[in-house]
Amino acid sequence: MIINSTISLPGDKSISHRSIMLASIASGVSCITNLNDGEDLQSTIKAMQSCGVSIEKEGDTILVTGSTLENPIEPIDCGNSGTTSRLLTGLLSSQHLSFSLIGDASLSKRPMNRVITPLTEMGCTIRSNDGLLPLHIDASNGLDRINYKMPIASAQVKSAILLAGLGSKDSCLVTELKHSRDHTEIMLKSMGADIKVDGDNIEVNPLSSALQSFTMDIPADPSSASFFIALAALLKGSSLTVENILLNPTRTGFIDVLEKMGVQGLVSNPTINNGESCGNIQFIGSDIKSCDVPAHMIPSIIDEIPILAVIAAFAEGKTIFYEVEELRFKECDRLDAIIKNLQLFGINAYEEGNNLVVEGGKPTKMAKILSFDDHRIAMAFIILSIVAFKEYHIDNTDCINISLPGFFNILKEIQA
Ligand code: S3P
Repeated sequence: MIINSTISLPGDKSISHRSIMLASIASGVSCITNLNDGEDLQSTIKAMQSCGVSIEKEGDTILVTGSTLENPIEPIDCGNSGTTSRLLTGLLSSQHLSFSLIGDASLSKRPMNRVITPLTEMGCTIRSNDGLLPLHIDASNGLDRINYKMPIASAQVKSAILLAGLGSKDSCLVTELKHSRDHTEIMLKSMGADIKVDGDNIEVNPLSSALQSFTMDIPADPSSASFFIALAALLKGSSLTVENILLNPTRTGFIDVLEKMGVQGLVSNPTINNGESCGNIQFIGSDIKSCDVPAHMIPSIIDEIPILAVIAAFAEGKTIFYEVEELRFKECDRLDAIIKNLQLFGINAYEEGNNLVVEGGKPTKMAKILSFDDHRIAMAFIILSIVAFKEYHIDNTDCINISLPGFFNILKEIQA
C-alpha cells in the first residue's frame, strides 16, 4: 500500500475551545470557520450557550455574539473534555458566576485539584468530590492576584489561571515548569488583553475593557493530522501533504520527533493567522529509526505520544520517551493503554520509572485493539494494525468522535 494524497482537516481542537470561550466574553460578533467538529467542542459550545451566549451556525461560519455571562441554571456537562472543564473553571470564575461542572465517567476520574489549588488561592470558593468532578463554584466579588509556579507542565492549568486573571483585582503571574501550548496567551494578546510573556513567565492584567471580537479560520489540527502522517511515514515511498496546518512551535514536537526518526516534514506557504503560525507540510514515507525523546519535548507531543509509540514500534531499536507520567491523567491512563496494546501486537513495551520504552521491530501478532474509550488510543492503534496487517479489529470506535468524526472518511480518502 502506498499513499499519495493531499488533505485538509478540521481546525485545531485547543484553539477551537479557546475561540468559543473568548469570543463569548468579547464585545461584538466573532466569526469562526473550520472550528473543530468533535464532541468536545460541542461540550464547550453548549456550556457557553447555557451562560446566555448566542452561538449560531451560518453556512460554514460559527457566529459568537459576546455578552455578559449569566449563571447557568443546570450543571454544565463537560462530557469527555478536560479542556472544557479546566478552562471554564477559570473563565467563569473571572466573570464572577456561580456554577457546577459535571462530566462523563472518564472526566470524572481526572484530577481537578490542579486547577482547584491555584484558583482557591485566588479566592474562588470551590467544592469538589475529593479533587474530582462534580465541582461547585460560588460567585466571588473579585479574585485576588496570584504568583503561581506551576508544579506540572499543563496548558490547561496555565490557561485556567490566566483566564481567571482577567477578572482579578491585580496582575497575575504564572511561571511554567516546562513550556506548554500557548494558544491562550496568543489569542488573548490578539484580542487586546494586557498579557506579557517573558521566557517561562506570563503576566496577565485584569481586563480594563472588553476583549475585541475577531474573525478566524482555524488551521488544521496537528494532533488529528498525526495519525494520517504516521500512516504515510510508515508506508515507504508514500507522500502526504496536509494543507494549512497549525505550526505553532509548542505543537510541532511530533514533526521534530519524526525528523529524529528519519522522516522529514517539508513546510511550504508559511503564514501567520491571528498570531498562530501555520502552513502546508509534506511527509515522505521512509525507514524509521528509534530515538530518545527527552523530557523537555514531552509537553509539545503530549497528545501525540500514542501515535509516536506506534511509529516507534516499527523502528529498528529502542525508543525511550522520558518522563511521560502526565499520560496517566488523560482520557484514560494512556501509559498503560499504550503498553497493553503494543504488547497485544507482540511489541515489547514497558514502563521504566516514569519513562516509556518501546522496543521496535514489527508487530508479530494480529490483535483486537483495546480503545479504553479513548479517541487517540483508538486512532493510533488502528493505524498500527492497518500498517502491519492491512485490517483492524477494535472494541469501540465511537470515542473517535470526541476529536475527529471524519477519521474513517479521511482514512478511506487517502488510501484510495
Ligand atoms: C490541552 C492541553 C493538554 C492536552 C489536551 C489539550 C489544551 O493537556 O493534553 O488535549 O487545549 O490546553 P494538559 O495541559 O493538561 O497537558
